[in-house]
Amino acid sequence: MCGIMGYTGDRDAKDILIGGLKKLEYRGYDSAGIALAADGTIEIFKDEGKVAVLEKQLDQAMEISKTGIGHTRWATHGVPCKKNAHPHRAGRVVLVHNGIIENEKELRAELDRQPISDTDTEIAAILLDTLYNGDPLTAIFQAIKRLEGSYALGILFEDQPQTLYAVRKDSPLIVGRGNGENFIASDIPALLEHTRQYYLLNEGEVAVLTKERITFFTADGQQVNKEVLTAEQDLQSAEKGGYAHFMAKEIHEQPEAVQATVSRYYKDHTLFPGEEFNIQGTIRIVACGSAYHAGLLGKYAIEKWARIPVTAEIASEFRYNDPILSKEDLIIVISQSGETADSVAALRLAKARGVPTLAIVNVWGSTLAREADRVFYTAAGPEISVATTKAYTCQAVLLYLLALKLAENELACEKIAALPSLLERVLEQGEQCRALAQKFKQAHRLFFIGRGQDHALACEGSLKLKEISYIHSEAYAAGELKHGTISLIEEGTPVIALLTDRERFSKTLSNVKEVKARGATVLAVTYENADLAGVADDILTLPPCSDLEAPMAGAVLLQLFAYYTAVERGNDVDQPRNLAKSVTVE
Ligand code: G6P
Repeated sequence: MCGIMGYTGDRDAKDILIGGLKKLEYRGYDSAGIALAADGTIEIFKDEGKVAVLEKQLDQAMEISKTGIGHTRWATHGVPCKKNAHPHRAGRVVLVHNGIIENEKELRAELDRQPISDTDTEIAAILLDTLYNGDPLTAIFQAIKRLEGSYALGILFEDQPQTLYAVRKDSPLIVGRGNGENFIASDIPALLEHTRQYYLLNEGEVAVLTKERITFFTADGQQVNKEVLTAEQDLQSAEKGGYAHFMAKEIHEQPEAVQATVSRYYKDHTLFPGEEFNIQGTIRIVACGSAYHAGLLGKYAIEKWARIPVTAEIASEFRYNDPILSKEDLIIVISQSGETADSVAALRLAKARGVPTLAIVNVWGSTLAREADRVFYTAAGPEISVATTKAYTCQAVLLYLLALKLAENELACEKIAALPSLLERVLEQGEQCRALAQKFKQAHRLFFIGRGQDHALACEGSLKLKEISYIHSEAYAAGELKHGTISLIEEGTPVIALLTDRERFSKTLSNVKEVKARGATVLAVTYENADLAGVADDILTLPPCSDLEAPMAGAVLLQLFAYYTAVERGNDVDQPRNLAKSVTVE
């Protein structure tokens, strides 16, 4: 979602802001802008479209500005257009914002100034300017008492041209410490070119940055010292490394990512060394998007092997369903970013009711990681492509390891430990997936079907395909098809049938025959030597593997299929329309 970059130092702020915004493009956005401060004036440049469009305007920017803020906007209040793009100005205040000001309407009615844009952000700027009497900190502390909702703000005051202010609540923002220069950013990749040293801002904290100094305050105005952290990711991780797209690179990084995740939690033939679990109630897995699909796999695996009841729920539903929870339950929140607004809210709800929480998170130090009682990190490394690949697979692997731990079945771990080499072999099937993508690229709609873990896999395969190819796709539990959806099957309707689960093979096969009899074109994903004669038009075969490994191997095949379909259709693979990598608003 929105990306924020801010700079104060001795270098040309505009270059640093543009460079940082480019590194944040992966978050998903529809307009971009920067504000440059110098000598008591602030110039704003902004437009709809990509950072490259904005860059073209900057020839007219002031010669020297050493302090500024930049923003990529993912529209919430008001359509994507120049007027609604950030930064927003109100009097002497200029700011950028990530989040949603929920009491915008009341504030709008209360403030006696007419905003220019349709955004909630401009209302925050007007509020700040109204409260500003020459003391920025007082104005900020007063403003945050009035603002409801979520916000990460980067703020400039016209008469303080060398100081950058930042505050966050329920939206991510970090502060980068350089040498004679300092930064704010939504995420680490924007900083890496300049510094590895950064601070995390806690809820409601305010940071004041000059080129020499960074000062932190709690929301009630107390100055605090903070621990400086060192980013471990390397610069290359935010580059494509010879691949045409980040998604292709990240698909190919999966053997390594899975290896790193497995070795973190399976050491010396011991699963989760030092970790104890005593779950008397239900495990409730809560997540959004692909992380939810990983949760479906987790439910399947834990119930099957450990015989502990598990639910998998969508966070945006869970948080408003007044869930019936017990202190004997365990809430597992899964998230790549650790910042997804609904997932964070679900975690807070569980904590408020005294239920133990565990976060499975990829981004170190993210909100979920900091707030959960326990954290297990997936070791996927930075993921840039909006459509998740390696983080999803690592989530699934981690859940399978957890299932085996809960089942006290350490023997089966050898299979999971062998997954990286299995995934290497799956990746060799790229050309086959490309050929199938050419065949399916003209489809207007298609169906994914499967049972058990193949149903979870169908959900993820279908989401992956639709989010980047824009082909309408639905995932169905194979046995459910005949309760309505089969009426949509006609001559040539593509159906992707997942038959990687040997226990359910014959049952799913019957469903495949049912759609075939009605004219479907069937692509089957299955294991070696599966008998599909006369039923499947095309077959993608997994390398030899057990049912335990099949969902991860299958996911990689379906990612390749989705990737090549999107490429064939000429889509923006890494930044699909309307989507954001990190969904920090509900
Ligand atoms: C967005 C991303 C998805 C992701 C979902 C949940 O929709 O595009 O790929 O699965 O958010 O994100 P999280 O960071 O919580 O895993």
